[in-house]
Amino acid sequence: MAAVIDKLTSLQVMLDASVIPVIVLNDVAHAVPMARALVAGGIRMLEITLRTKVALDCMRAIVAEVPEAIVGAGTIRSASDAKAAKAAGARFGVSPGYTSAVGLACRELDLPLLPGVATGSEIMLAMEDGYTELKFFPAMQAGGPNLLKAWSGPFADIKFCPTGGVSLENAPQLLALSNVVVVGGSWLTPGDAMARGDWALITQLAREAAALPR
Ligand code: 3PG
Repeated sequence: MAAVIDKLTSLQVMLDASVIPVIVLNDVAHAVPMARALVAGGIRMLEITLRTKVALDCMRAIVAEVPEAIVGAGTIRSASDAKAAKAAGARFGVSPGYTSAVGLACRELDLPLLPGVATGSEIMLAMEDGYTELKFFPAMQAGGPNLLKAWSGPFADIKFCPTGGVSLENAPQLLALSNVVVVGGSWLTPGDAMARGDWALITQLAREAAALPR
């Protein structure tokens, strides 16, 4: 039985499991069975991306019906995205890039954020605003493990969640790095599996991801 977390921090979001699933939902009816399937496989920190019209409704449905899940919002690009996500019940946020407006809005909302970065300057901007747990996006496209190794020198105090092009196959080499505590990826929730209601497959993918060592 997973521990209940009252006051969530960005670090707790990262440490809960080896993988944060990045989820794109096109149908509200998929939200609850999808969340139950991931939880059954041992993954409860769920990043629901704000990329579809139904994303906020999906968050509300999961919050209401799957209390074991911890719902977060991905693709936060503005302060108003952060406000809408928080109002829908999101307990953490993930952004594909970083602006101080987003960082400060999340702080005001008390919404733990994993800000997205892809360069040293973006890391420094996020650090200036007090963020030290960051998403590295798009990880494999922007330099993958080699870039993370390079950052471990000047940014040894920063922890990363590489996301973008990550898979069950390449996750172990990322998770083995000193500055990586978790990876993110969409491979746990394939759109075609959700469309045909193959929740058993999603549980299986979650189980494999949850078993990744770090
Ligand atoms: C994200 O938004 O973080 C990415 O779309 C996830 O990337 P992936 O689909 O390559 O896992």
